Parts: sequence; structure tokens; C-alpha cells
Amino acid sequence: MGSFKWINLFIIIFKYFLTITPIFSYSNEVPNFLDLAKEPQVFDWMVDIRRKIHENPELGYEEFETSKLIREKLDELGIPYKHPVAVTGVVGYIGTGLPPFVALRADMDALLMQELVEWEHKSKVPGKMHACGHDAHVSMLLGAAKILKDHEKYFNGTVVLVFQPAEEGGAGAKKIVDAGVLENVSAIFGLHILPGIPLGEVASKSGPMSAGCGLFEAIISGRGGHAALPQHSIDPILAASNVIVSLQHIVSREVDPLDSQVVTVGMFQGGGAFNVIPDSVTIGGTFRAFLRESFTQLKHRIEQVISGQAAVQRCNATVSFLEEKKPLIPPTVNNGDLHDYFKSVAGSLLGTDKVKGMEQMTGSEDFAFYQEALPGYLFLLGMEDISAERLPGPHSPYYKVNEDALPYGAALHASLAAGYLAKLHHEVLVVEGKYHDEL
Ligand SMILES: *[C@@H]1O[C@H](CO)[C@@H](O)[C@H](O)[C@H]1NC(C)=O
Ligand SMILES: *[C@@H]1O[C@H](CO)[C@@H](O)[C@H](O)[C@H]1NC(C)=O
Ligand SMILES: *[C@@H]1O[C@H](CO)[C@@H](O)[C@H](O)[C@H]1NC(C)=O
Ligand SMILES: [Zn+2]
Ligand SMILES: [Zn+2]
Repeated sequence: MGSFKWINLFIIIFKYFLTITPIFSYSNEVPNFLDLAKEPQVFDWMVDIRRKIHENPELGYEEFETSKLIREKLDELGIPYKHPVAVTGVVGYIGTGLPPFVALRADMDALLMQELVEWEHKSKVPGKMHACGHDAHVSMLLGAAKILKDHEKYFNGTVVLVFQPAEEGGAGAKKIVDAGVLENVSAIFGLHILPGIPLGEVASKSGPMSAGCGLFEAIISGRGGHAALPQHSIDPILAASNVIVSLQHIVSREVDPLDSQVVTVGMFQGGGAFNVIPDSVTIGGTFRAFLRESFTQLKHRIEQVISGQAAVQRCNATVSFLEEKKPLIPPTVNNGDLHDYFKSVAGSLLGTDKVKGMEQMTGSEDFAFYQEALPGYLFLLGMEDISAERLPGPHSPYYKVNEDALPYGAALHASLAAGYLAKLHHEVLVVEGKYHDEL
């Protein structure tokens, strides 16, 4: 009895493998893009691009030269593109031009800060710097484009290259989505290079990854007067102080302790003399949450608490979330199926021990806008050389990119996109019954 069952089981498993393997076999379908990306004609090319962009950092929606350089490189590779998309954005296409579509994203903007690293390719623009690695992001996506283009004839579908403006608070991703270029795209992948994670490793997680981020500003108005005669004034300093204390009670008293949220008041402007009660006080701050519903609720309560608490002290308050200037960034939430897919691709390319989990981060990423529109996946790319000095964190004037990470980013982009097209193609064949007969 036993042996009959075992043989049957064996046959079933064997048949399963025969039929399943062609459905999606990463190693058969996708070349080793890491070896390709490490070759000098790709690696040196990426390094050169990254250094050019680093020398000429441009702020959000002003990435004109960066955008031009990207288009020159795409022309060089024979890759068609759309431009301008979202002011300075460029969207390139590799493959058949037909569905399925899979997108890869790189952000292009720099920061308003002075570089303090003394090196040959230091920023040539005073007060502007690529201190978040977006110069590396552009160069890695171009590197991916270069190696993908060489394998274009094997694609059943199209890779969409998204070079996006204004990630640093400008919500460039939202403008890309609004432009409609991601319609019919099945999935989008993005990466962020980060110190603190060893070179050759990646980190990510399923579900909420980085927080939604909003700003608020409130003008609390009272009535100014002599500090020695408070009865004739309405003191906005005291009212603003109470507002700030009450704002801290939202997270500590109203929110599930397991649902992490932040409210920080970082700005308090009011008064200019020791003995004068001012007319008004302006406060400003930021709030963060990981769940879309929590983020909306937090925003709502911030507004209520400021107005309500100001009224208790006989003041009026006007609250603004500055959405015209700085759109709210929703939480970054990674798609669970794409997480499994990412682990299999990154594991094959780097080794499964190099694919790490992570805690969610209270920073924010405008990649969230893509994830509201379609399945999206963001991961962190390591660049720390553990044998060398520790790299400073992002947004530091001493920020440095370890350029040895460039081939890893390019290869991951390329593998994720090519593998995903192969996977979608086989899924279509299965639905059409082309592999079913064997089962
Ligand atoms: C794409 O898929 C179709 C349908 O299975 C097939 O006929 C065609 O040869 C494939 N093209 C490429 C480039 O793989
Ligand atoms: C998406 O697909 C629909 C239906 O095939 C088509 O009408 C539309 O033009 C496509 N959109 C883009 C941006 O390709
Ligand atoms: C608050 O607004 C009301 C209505 O506009 C106004 O009558 C009142 O004087 C204001 N109070 C302060 C302290 O500005
Ligand atoms: Zn940044
Ligand atoms: Zn960044």
C-alpha cells in the first residue's frame, strides 16, 4: 500500500516540476545581469553618468540638464522615450511596445544644501548637492536600460523606464501618475541606495515600509499688549503653548500604540520683546503615519486640536497643510505578492542570505503615489563597505556614494523587470491552457 502511494506521489511531484518549471524559472529566462553590469563598458559608463549629475545638482522640477543627459544616453542606446512628462521627467520604453508593461523608477532631484566633501567631482553649484543618492539612482536605471536593451528581443512585453522629478517633497511621482504614462502598467519597482546596509545586500519588507508625511502650519491670533497688563490682551504665546501640548496627546492618548505615528512641532515664531504680548504666533510641524486611514485621521485631528485649543484661550487659529507647496506624501506600502517575487529574484542574483528584512521607517518616499495607482515595490540597496570608514547618512553634507553599488542596482532593476515580463507571459499561457494539458 505504502509503495504504491509513494510512487504515485513521486510521479505527481515530478510532473509538477516538469510543468511548473516553464511557468517561471528565473535562472533559465533571465541572464546574469550582475556579471553584465560589472563589466567595464557598463560600470564605467554608469560611474561617469553619476559623477556628471553629481557635479551639476538640480532641485525638484528644475532637473533640465539631468533630463537632457538622460535623453542623450537613451538616444545613444536607441531607446525611444516621452518627454517632457511632469515638467522634466523622461519615460523610456524597451521591448515590443505592447503589453504587458512593467515599470522601473529613478528620481532625479538634488537638495538645497552645500556639499562639504572635497573630491574631484564635488558639486559645482554652491548650495545644492546630491546628498540622497538620486544621482546614483539615475545612473543605475540607465545602466539597467543599457543591459536590458541588449536583451530586448527576448522580451514579451515592454519595460517602462521612469525618470521622475522632485522626489524631495515635490511629489514628482504624483505628477507622473497624473500624466497617465503608467496606465496599463502591471507593476512598478524602485530602489533607494542607503548607507548602513552592506554592499551587495538589499533590505525591504512587505506592507507599510515608510511613513506618510504631511506638514502643518497654524497662525494663532490673539490681541497684543503690555506684558504687565495681561487682562487687556489675549495671549497667543500661552495659547500656542497649550496647542503644542495638546497636539502631543493625539498620539499618546488617541492612537493605538502598535500603530506608530509622529506629530512634531518644529517651528514656533512669535514675540520679539521681553515685555510685549504679541498679536499672533505661528507654529509649524510635521506628522507621520504608516497606515493610509491613520494618516487621514491624524491630519483631521491636528486641525481640530489646534482650532479647539486656541479657542479655549480665546484665540483664533487658521490651519494650513501647505498642500499647494508641499503635497502630502502617503505611506509607502509594499505589495505582498511583489515582495515574494522580489525575494526570489534578489535571492537568485545576490544569494538568499543577502536579502534582508527591515523595520518600517518614519521617513517618507513619494514612491507611495505609484503604489496608490498600481502594485508597487520599493527596496533599499546597500552600499556600505564594512572594511572602510562608515558612510554618513542621507542628507548629510558629507554624504558619499560607494559607486561599487551601481552594478547591483542596475542588475536588480534589469532582473526584476525582465523576470516579471517572463512571469506574466507564462501566467498568460497557463490561463490560455497551453501548459495545462500536461497536468
Ligand atoms: C511572445 O509570446 C508569443 C505568444 O506565446 C510568442 O508567439 C512569441 O514568439 C513571443 N515573443 C518573444 C519575443 O518571445
Ligand atoms: C491602455 O489600454 C487601453 C485599452 O487597451 C488603451 O485604450 C489605452 O490607450 C492604453 N493606455 C496607454 C497609456 O497606453
Ligand atoms: C476671532 O474671530 C472672530 C470672528 O472673525 C472675531 O470676532 C474675533 O475678534 C477674533 N478674535 C481674535 C482674538 O482674533
Ligand atoms: Zn532624500
Ligand atoms: Zn532619496
